[in-house]
Amino acid sequence: MAKLKIITGEHNPILRAMSEKVKKFDAGLKKFAQDLKETMIKAKGLGIAAPQVGKNIRVFIAILNYKTESQVIMTMVNPEIITHSEETEIGEEGCLSLPGKFGNVERFKRVTVEFFDPDGGRQVFELSGLNARVVQHETDHINGVLFIDKMKEAEERKGLAF
Ligand code: CO
Repeated sequence: MAKLKIITGEHNPILRAMSEKVKKFDAGLKKFAQDLKETMIKAKGLGIAAPQVGKNIRVFIAILNYKTESQVIMTMVNPEIITHSEETEIGEEGCLSLPGKFGNVERFKRVTVEFFDPDGGRQVFELSGLNARVVQHETDHINGVLFIDKMKEAEERKGLAF
């Protein structure tokens, strides 16, 4: 059970790079996705993206329906936000790669995300609220964007990191 090392720092070049699309849905991808998921669970994150463990590929893990009966951990490969609401909302975010930093970020209230599972199956999810927020935060990661770039003001409060 491999736990990968989470890299940190707002100027870290790996966290700031544009990640590459996954081309091969092979055993290596499945193993990496499993390791990434375990790393997120151990770090008590709500989500984690591949660049956060030093790999610039378009893969992330997100916990959806957090702390409800329908909680599920999704692996999203080559995700694209294909539509979003006009409406936005402000909510608190933190990031496993920016320890101790929390702040309010404006995000679209609803998004439609198209992605592939590690077996190469195409999926389309319509998400809202915290589910939409985590997917927008992780999609930013694979484009080299961190939440502090969009943050209105820093917060003292310590909440969820993803
Ligand atoms: Co993050």
